[in-house]
Amino acid sequence: MPSTRQNIVAASLLAADFAAFADEVSAVEKAGIDWLHIDVMDGHFVPVMAITAPTVAALRPRTKLPLDVHLMIENPSAHIADFAKAGADCLTIHLEADCHAHRTLTEIRRLGIKSGLALNPGTPLSQAEPLLHLCDVLLIMTVNPGFGGQKFLHDQVPKIAAARELIDTKFTASNEARPLISIDGGINPETAAICRSAGADVYGAGSAIFAAEQHQYAARIAGIRGE
Ligand code: DX5
Ligand code: ZN
Repeated sequence: MPSTRQNIVAASLLAADFAAFADEVSAVEKAGIDWLHIDVMDGHFVPVMAITAPTVAALRPRTKLPLDVHLMIENPSAHIADFAKAGADCLTIHLEADCHAHRTLTEIRRLGIKSGLALNPGTPLSQAEPLLHLCDVLLIMTVNPGFGGQKFLHDQVPKIAAARELIDTKFTASNEARPLISIDGGINPETAAICRSAGADVYGAGSAIFAAEQHQYAARIAGIRGE
């Protein structure tokens, strides 16, 4: 793997035990997770509802891990200040949910946090190209967003490879503005390995980590990391 590539595992709390949230967070933290991935859903952009800013604020003092907040919501610009105040380290919006994504990504950075742009499986990479210089993270969905536990979409692998090539061409290795390529949905050790070969940097996984006993989390995380 070239030195500019990263190998970050983010645990998607959507698959955690919601009745023992803080406990689940410390279990994955002890197990060596890199980031916490927090899925926010509004019942409009995606069919179901999950997690709001007060939950992020409640988690913030419980962990030092980066809070990677994935906003699967319409009109994200109306909510970014709330999530920044709640303690998010990175806020990812969906391109499909915001016709003013350029402005919203700029505003997220102005709030002093990392900016992310997510693409649904049906959205071509070309639509993200004019926005890449405003992104710290490019999130390529490998399922249609809305639910945990779905099957990895292999037809998204060429998009990951194309994003790697585009980013490596557009940004020099020393350029701090180079966005990380993150993937989300259906990630397990096998699908993570496929995405690693295609050029991903960040692996978001929910069920592959949390559908296990807490003492098994470290092994699950290592498996996704390819160790
Ligand atoms: C899907 C969410 C994902 C999801 C991943 O809409 O954005 O983060 O929780 O869950 P798994 O790893 O179970 O596919
Ligand atoms: Zn997510």
